Amino acid sequence: MPKHKIAPSLLAADFTRLREEVEMVNNSVADWLHLDVMDGRFVPNLTFGMLIVEAVRQLSTKPLDVHLMIVEPERYVGAFRQAGADVITVHYEACPHLHRIIHQIKETGAMAGVALNPHTPVGVLENVLEEVDLICLMSVNPGFGGQKFIYQTLSKVRHLREMLTTLNSSALVEVDGGIGLQNAEVILRAGADVLVVGSSVFGSRDPAATIATMKALNESWL
Ligand code: DX5
Ligand code: ZN
Repeated sequence: MPKHKIAPSLLAADFTRLREEVEMVNNSVADWLHLDVMDGRFVPNLTFGMLIVEAVRQLSTKPLDVHLMIVEPERYVGAFRQAGADVITVHYEACPHLHRIIHQIKETGAMAGVALNPHTPVGVLENVLEEVDLICLMSVNPGFGGQKFIYQTLSKVRHLREMLTTLNSSALVEVDGGIGLQNAEVILRAGADVLVVGSSVFGSRDPAATIATMKALNESWL
């Protein structure tokens, strides 16, 4: 099984020290840098848009994993790609024309991801699963960092992993929200490929070491 990826979420970083925070991630064994774009409509919070993604692009040596928690994401896919996104994830709940936007993302050259809110069953993706590069299972209600992991997500991870195995798909299973050293292992065992980690990385005393511990996790199972 390929090694899992760790994607620190910049949402939990100290934005007065944005350069140092991105450099910490650059110098760590993190695989991706996760960027949470919120519009105050799809979710009850506002964060940042293309301008910040573009600035982070200049500072970061890691691929940028851009999570769009916005309505009508089709209007901004091109702009986020141009700003430097390597992975663009849209919400199933925000996309009546999901198949179309998945292809719109892929045509830009970015990896196409679809995120599901905690209450949305994985079965809704059955007819697009072969088209996507990544499925992001939200393990908190999107909008804020620092929330508690919703444990029902584990059965969704297992179910999705079975669906992907049946299809012989190499799409990545990402889990986002409430992840820390206390539950990362059980999430990986359920079948996750990418762990998005915000507050438990940036809130720890040695963020780079926390990333390394999470990255090393399944080595001990071998
Ligand atoms: C929540 C965001 C997450 C968030 C995770 O809406 O999508 O990426 O930053 O933060 P933690 O790890 O603190 O739950
Ligand atoms: Zn996110």
